[in-house]
Amino acid sequence: MFEELKNRPADSLLALIKAFQADERAGKIDLGVGVYRDAMGRTPVMRAVKAAEQFLLETQDSKKYLGPEGDLQFVRLLQPIVFGKSPTFVQRLVGIQTPGGSGALRLGAELIQTANPSAKVLLGTPSWPNHAPIFGSARLGVKEYPFLDLTSQQVKFESVIEALSSADPGDVVLLHGCCHNPTGIDFTMEEWRQIAELLVARKLMPFIDLAYQGLGDGLEHDAAPTRMILETVDEALIAYSCDKNFGLYRERVGALYAMARTADDIGKAESNMAALARVNWSMPPDHGAAIVRTILESAEMSAMWRAELEEMCERVNDNRAALAAAAPDLAFISRQRGLFSNLAMSRETAAALRARHGIYMADSGRMNLAGMQPADAGAIITALRAEGCL
Ligand code: LMR
Repeated sequence: MFEELKNRPADSLLALIKAFQADERAGKIDLGVGVYRDAMGRTPVMRAVKAAEQFLLETQDSKKYLGPEGDLQFVRLLQPIVFGKSPTFVQRLVGIQTPGGSGALRLGAELIQTANPSAKVLLGTPSWPNHAPIFGSARLGVKEYPFLDLTSQQVKFESVIEALSSADPGDVVLLHGCCHNPTGIDFTMEEWRQIAELLVARKLMPFIDLAYQGLGDGLEHDAAPTRMILETVDEALIAYSCDKNFGLYRERVGALYAMARTADDIGKAESNMAALARVNWSMPPDHGAAIVRTILESAEMSAMWRAELEEMCERVNDNRAALAAAAPDLAFISRQRGLFSNLAMSRETAAALRARHGIYMADSGRMNLAGMQPADAGAIITALRAEGCL
């Protein structure tokens, strides 16, 4: 049987992890995969996570199954952080724990496929390289449209409007809630409002991917567009990830929330999400969600988590400012938010930056700003100049 398979290339983003480890040069800089690094270049276990793990070690008395919904107290406690304290739409929300934001995207894709197999997913490009494959492998049609021009680093808003205006009722629009991956370029609030109006007018459903809340301009600010969209539309899906803002990457912690019109629809969404989880992973892994729940149940640990997240956010924005200050051509980097910015460059140039200068960024030219120190700005700019990027 296996002879029928075709070899597939390794995921080029994840391949950077091994390539960087194998590089023995002292001055190498890792701007590749999207993980936060501190001033020592480490990806630390956050202080509140350590405290919660200690608490769990001492108090957890069972590891019995929780069910396909996972830890529902985790799902509930996350809700005010994502949606605000008492949003008008709270009664119309239902959530389920998922293995990371990717699990939430996959589960949401299958829910759409079950409800409306002919729905297309509108995806502005460039986007996270795993978006289109996740929707495609759930047998949904994906319609890509240009979201922005990398050379000018400007959103092509007229292209967004055109894509949404020509979509069919029932189609789904994938939106990055904040900290756009890979460009760091988010819509302005005015653009979000226009998008919300079009979603309603064209009967389109937003599927919001919120994977970096707190790493742009803070928890409240980063959630504002998602909350405004949910105040405006009838139905929505939200794929949430705790991997980055709780630093729990390999624990795979996320949630899928659905907002439905009626109590009956909420029940249907809920039962389908549980059934789809059951056939995919049966039950999500517990440890990461238990950590987040423990943090959110404790005022002291929550304060610790918020303070460290703010420090992380500031550090990323300091790195942005350092690069922008060192090269006027890169001034746009200080206006972008989240871990990533995406320079316009060829794969060959990205490969040359790795081979000749030990600077690792994705083949697409995406750089993880959390991977550098402010003192690296000079070396990065020298290498970009040497390779003709500036
Ligand atoms: C990234 O974009 O670097 C992260 O989301 C890691 C991944 O899974 O691709």
